[in-house]
Amino acid sequence: MEMKFVIATHNPGKVVEFQRILEPMGIEVVMAELSEPEETGKTFAENAFIKAEAACKETGLPAVADDSGLCVDFLNGAPGIYSARFAEPGKRRLTVLEKLKDVPVEQRGAHFVSAVCAVFPNGDRIEAEGKCFGAIAFESRGENGFGYDSIFEQEGRTFGEMSNEEKDARSHRGFAFQEFEKKLREYLTIGKA
Ligand code: IMP
Repeated sequence: MEMKFVIATHNPGKVVEFQRILEPMGIEVVMAELSEPEETGKTFAENAFIKAEAACKETGLPAVADDSGLCVDFLNGAPGIYSARFAEPGKRRLTVLEKLKDVPVEQRGAHFVSAVCAVFPNGDRIEAEGKCFGAIAFESRGENGFGYDSIFEQEGRTFGEMSNEEKDARSHRGFAFQEFEKKLREYLTIGKA
């Protein structure tokens, strides 16, 4: 599968993961100077489509975007689609930890969601979604990854403590891209028939 996609994100942590996951599929991912559309959607999927469509229109190339976030049970699913805008930059993890201070382990459940969308110049689109379940740690641990990785744990280890391979094998984005790859392969086969 030979294919070139523009990545519609300004988040350096995501760019690294997109490249890591998409390149083994034979997809070349390129970055472009893109304006940031307003994320007015009410769901992860709507926002992923808004970003991918804007990037495709701007560059004339197929574009791929993900909209993702952390949903914390104790906070009724917050920050959710507002994960990137929740509290000031640099304070987001601490804000979550603070809000869950003294909350017992059984009530610290959380999940990440990633909605992936690719938009092609002819208007076709491919969508996929992945989730992964875990818990909010009592403190930040680990230097790997980005965003909320160091406070999200599965079986006692945070994503920040896992290698890239371990995270990709169990993360929301890893699962979303697995489904995306399947759909993209089907799309390309049908398209070429
Ligand atoms: P978006 O760019 O609107 O999709 O923002 C998503 C935000 O959710 C990011 O800025 C991160 O704070 C958080 N997030 C999404 N995916 C991950 C992940 O894999 N690890 C840690 N934080 C994430």
